[in-house]
Amino acid sequence: MSAPRARRGNLAVVPVTTREDYAPPAVDIEGAAVRLGGRTVWSSVTASIRAGEFAAILGPNGSGKSTLVRALLGLQPLAAGRIQVLGRPAGEARAEIGYLPQRRAFDSSLRIRGLDVVRLGVDGHRWGLPMPGRRSRAAAARVAEVIELVGAQGYAHRPIGRLSGGEQQRLLIAQALAPRPRLLLLDEPLDSLDLTNQSAVAGLVAGICRDQGVAVVMVAHDVNPILPYLDQVIYLAEGAAVSGPPAEVITSASLSRLYGTPVEVLSTSDGRLVVVGQPEPPAHHSDRHAGTSAARAAGAHGPH
Ligand SMILES: Nc1ncnc2c1ncn2[C@@H]1O[C@H](COP(=O)(O)OP(=O)(O)O)[C@@H](O)[C@H]1O
Ligand SMILES: [Mg+2]
Repeated sequence: MSAPRARRGNLAVVPVTTREDYAPPAVDIEGAAVRLGGRTVWSSVTASIRAGEFAAILGPNGSGKSTLVRALLGLQPLAAGRIQVLGRPAGEARAEIGYLPQRRAFDSSLRIRGLDVVRLGVDGHRWGLPMPGRRSRAAAARVAEVIELVGAQGYAHRPIGRLSGGEQQRLLIAQALAPRPRLLLLDEPLDSLDLTNQSAVAGLVAGICRDQGVAVVMVAHDVNPILPYLDQVIYLAEGAAVSGPPAEVITSASLSRLYGTPVEVLSTSDGRLVVVGQPEPPAHHSDRHAGTSAARAAGAHGPH
């Protein structure tokens, strides 16, 4: 499509194209599919996420959210389609990605300090080897900088096993940010946090995304804490995907089409979204949030 032109007298006014328009998206997914154990986990996933955008991967347990994150890291081969990360095939940009895997609990007896965990993000590959003085000082400065960025100054010197879930998660986000990534992949970072901390960590990540121009892709079980900040959603279910702005994706019509059954998106008086009527995940899927069928009905967006 040609650029629109506005004629003023004899002058054709052509919109200025900035350098950013030419920069490749942080994430570009085209018709991607993954098969695992002879089964298609998802197919026809198409999405594009630019620098400074905040995207969420949503969907029921077992729908392949973590698999999509692994595909972005180039750790999961595709059965079809194409994924480009920062203008290169997935896997080639790994040094520019900050990755926080799905929840790993720290043993309460673990003595390693919070700031040592963050330091691993700066010089993990040199762990245990003495660093030359100047580089060591630069690394320490970067550690202090990201600890301040996530507001962990008050407890970063304490053993990580003794910190609360919210404090641990902030330090892990600091670790992922330490090497100055251009893309941040966070797999369910709000899981296991109380509501107050979910909102606080969501706001923190949104601020980093906006202020540092980092593209963020966050896997979430409940969209509500991040809803105010979201630019894009990739919703996985039933082996398919729908993606786009949240107002277009998280609707009764779009999710009913995705699930192939009537699904209703309700908006509560305080602006939360609740998805009702989505089918239960197949029994073979491990369900960490197993519990009442009401909790399942509320699914990825249920009130907690
Ligand atoms: N190595 C594997 N071999 C076969 N199936 C797998 C493998 N890894 C994951 N799966 C299956 O792929 C599906 C998607 O898993 P996952 O991406 O972890 O889902 P989510 O993160 O949405 O809960 C699940 O049904 C899971 O059991
Ligand atoms: Mg997962």
